[in-house]
Amino acid sequence: MSKLLILNGPNLNLLGQREPALYGTDTLADVEALCRRAAERLGCSVECLQSNHEGVLLDAIHEAGRAFKAGALLGVVLNAGAYTHTSVALHDAIKGAAVPVVEVHISNVHAREPFRHHSYLSPAAAGIVVGFGVDGYVLAIEGLVRRARRAAPAP
Ligand code: DQA
Repeated sequence: MSKLLILNGPNLNLLGQREPALYGTDTLADVEALCRRAAERLGCSVECLQSNHEGVLLDAIHEAGRAFKAGALLGVVLNAGAYTHTSVALHDAIKGAAVPVVEVHISNVHAREPFRHHSYLSPAAAGIVVGFGVDGYVLAIEGLVRRARRAAPAP
């Protein structure tokens, strides 16, 4: 079965209690269950990982690159949280691992503080979903699956 990695970065473990006016009331466990259901509807499975540590996210992207190359992974849905706006290392990891990554933000970062308007990840991403709340994860999953099926149509 085709697999996707759902990768969440710093502070996303606080979803549900963290600034609900911006991020809603769903917990990370709710979001991961939403992703699992969305993937299953498309005949896929998900692996979910959240970390507050940049190096753990880097290692996960490297591993995803290996799995993608081996044909065991379709791609990565990545909400890198604040590392989006600071991390050259994540940019380099996405490029270096050569795995399709869809960058997701729950909030519309472009309607927020100017320091959130720049993303180091966007130039390396296969696609970007911003401002649709947690439904953005579902849109990203659909985008990755459609992209993979376009590249390798079913016989
Ligand atoms: C976020 C937006 C980032 O600017 C912020 O640092 C987050 C969450 C979002 O999902 O809207 O942690 O990535």
